[in-house]
Amino acid sequence: MAVVQATTTEPDGEGAGPRHVAVIMDGNGRWAQLRGRPRLYGHHAGVRRVREIVEACPALGVKYLTVFAFSTENWKRTQAEVAGLMMLFRRYITREAQDLLKNGVRVRFIGDRIRLEPRLVELMDDLELLTQGNDRVHLTVALNYGGRDEVTRAARRLAYEVEQGRLSHRDVDAETLARFLDTHVLPDPDLVIRTSGEARISNFLLWQSAYAEYEFVDTLWPDFTRAEFARIVHGFAHRNRRFGAVSA
Ligand code: IPE
Ligand code: IPE
Ligand code: MG
Repeated sequence: MAVVQATTTEPDGEGAGPRHVAVIMDGNGRWAQLRGRPRLYGHHAGVRRVREIVEACPALGVKYLTVFAFSTENWKRTQAEVAGLMMLFRRYITREAQDLLKNGVRVRFIGDRIRLEPRLVELMDDLELLTQGNDRVHLTVALNYGGRDEVTRAARRLAYEVEQGRLSHRDVDAETLARFLDTHVLPDPDLVIRTSGEARISNFLLWQSAYAEYEFVDTLWPDFTRAEFARIVHGFAHRNRRFGAVSA
């Protein structure tokens, strides 16, 4: 747990593009429904968009892309949908691994792996290992991820360190806590995009997006194109981020 999280607390003025974009990929089910198809059909279509958006990142100066694939609350869905999604994740990893490696994508997974099936966790571990030398784009996939769950797990581990006498309660500050989060090696997201017209966070990167800019678009995720992504990323440069300070 070596790398200290880069905290974005300095106003950087207008003009800079987002280094880290996080995406709540929502609307697959409704997209399928509109076509009279089962929800999984929409999830399949959604996976293809992930590939397109990852490939668009380098040219847009986006170094980090984090995508919300499955939340800690998504277990509430039918067993069939959950099983279908898990199968899709296994297939995505198996099919895309070599291309991700070749395209310089470093893949990481965040979220609690405990509840995931072992054969999926194995594929996740292997892909992280396979791509660990890459640095062109850092793709983080949030799988069985919930912001509250992540902070709770971090607090539990922090408490254990104190209990073991390796840390004093006086050492507990925001930076220390951040080191125990799943995202400890990632910078905070600069921009969070949510598709499908819902304007809520749904437990995504609660701690990390304290000062993120938000963009909510009506497009359903399977219809979200590289062009729309580029438009949003370019629009980010015109925002004036103050981080609580006063503009110069
Ligand atoms: C997002 O699409 C993908 C996951 C949550 C896995 P949804 O499945 O939530 O699609 P809608 O919101 O029901 O349309
Ligand atoms: C958020 O979408 C989770 C993912 C995109 C993986 P949901 O569809 O689960 O969120 P709610 O239920 O509309 O808030
Ligand atoms: Mg949804």
